[in-house]
Amino acid sequence: ASLELGPYSHFMQKEIHEQPKALSDTIDTVLDHGFNASLFGDAAASVLPQLQGVKILACGTSYYAGLTAKYWIESIAGVSCDVEIASEYRYRAAFANPQHLVVTISQSGETLDTMEALKYARELGHRHALSICNVRESAIPRASDLVFYTRAGAEIGVASTKAFTTQLVGLFALAVTLGKVRGRVDAAAEAQYLDELRHLPGSVQHALNLEPQIKLWAEQFSGKQHALFLGRGVHYPIALEGALKLKEISYIHAEAYPAGELKHGPLALVDDSMPVVVIAPNDSLLEKVKSNMQEVRARGGELFVFADLDSHFSESDGVHVIRTPRHVGTLSPVVHAIPVQMLAYHAALQRGTDVDKPRNLAKSVTVE
Ligand code: G6P
Repeated sequence: ASLELGPYSHFMQKEIHEQPKALSDTIDTVLDHGFNASLFGDAAASVLPQLQGVKILACGTSYYAGLTAKYWIESIAGVSCDVEIASEYRYRAAFANPQHLVVTISQSGETLDTMEALKYARELGHRHALSICNVRESAIPRASDLVFYTRAGAEIGVASTKAFTTQLVGLFALAVTLGKVRGRVDAAAEAQYLDELRHLPGSVQHALNLEPQIKLWAEQFSGKQHALFLGRGVHYPIALEGALKLKEISYIHAEAYPAGELKHGPLALVDDSMPVVVIAPNDSLLEKVKSNMQEVRARGGELFVFADLDSHFSESDGVHVIRTPRHVGTLSPVVHAIPVQMLAYHAALQRGTDVDKPRNLAKSVTVE
């Protein structure tokens, strides 16, 4: 294994650092086709124009990729989108609109609940299914008529990292392609989205360079029992993913909240022993996030803020700031996923857990 790991201590760390390459390989697939139906297979040209909505089904980190995609599919494509946890959907008396595309997201392509949810969606009457998957010819893409393969390469660490960010690329491409088919994305917008994709691996590399600073933060987390992650809008799913990563590998209890919901409950938990991680990109919700942060600070909560380089945030008593790259626009959640992965990784290292094989968890869950 040491040969495979090269300079890294764990597969998770290696996979975190492989993201610029995994992303650019996946982006190459998009560039080869452009934002055209062919990106999702031969059948897509006849399927995509008829769609009236999207239903995403997934588990774990893949589910959070789906939650992120909802924002893009609604705002870029103007198509309604709902996202469901596969193990819930498959036992629910759900309604199917045959014109809604089922999108499953799965790194392994073998997760039982996701597979069964797909079968159930078909039974309910959904006609078309797209699989976003990292493993060629696995069960879920084989059971789907449309496919987009992420090119993350083998992912060994139980906690998903590069599979997640490459899924986001596939989902972004779906949103833009649907927007084009529906006449909402014109040539100028398309060029802009392509440009954003081309710049993504570089911005992710820039985020990876923050590792020494994040490691110092992780030292402060390792003695804590609980942590709270806050985000808003398209970055709320990144807060969820950050909390999931921290709990699954460091065993620190973590919860994520959309920052506007703080006052409806979690604010009661905030005191000086509760670190609060804030995903605070320089977007239209920044001022709202800042006022949520003041609510935390006023209760003695210590803030750990990931802020874009071009937003004006300064450190103060109890407010720590790490500056992520300049705001990259629509793909910002991909860039903001990187620091929370590294924070969880280094907190787990501090606590001496088995980072690549956390207790009680499996890489691919093929049983119920
Ligand atoms: C397990 C893994 C997670 C993964 C989830 C879904 O819980 O530990 O990392 O996100 O399964 O797996 P999938 O292969 O369907 O993406």
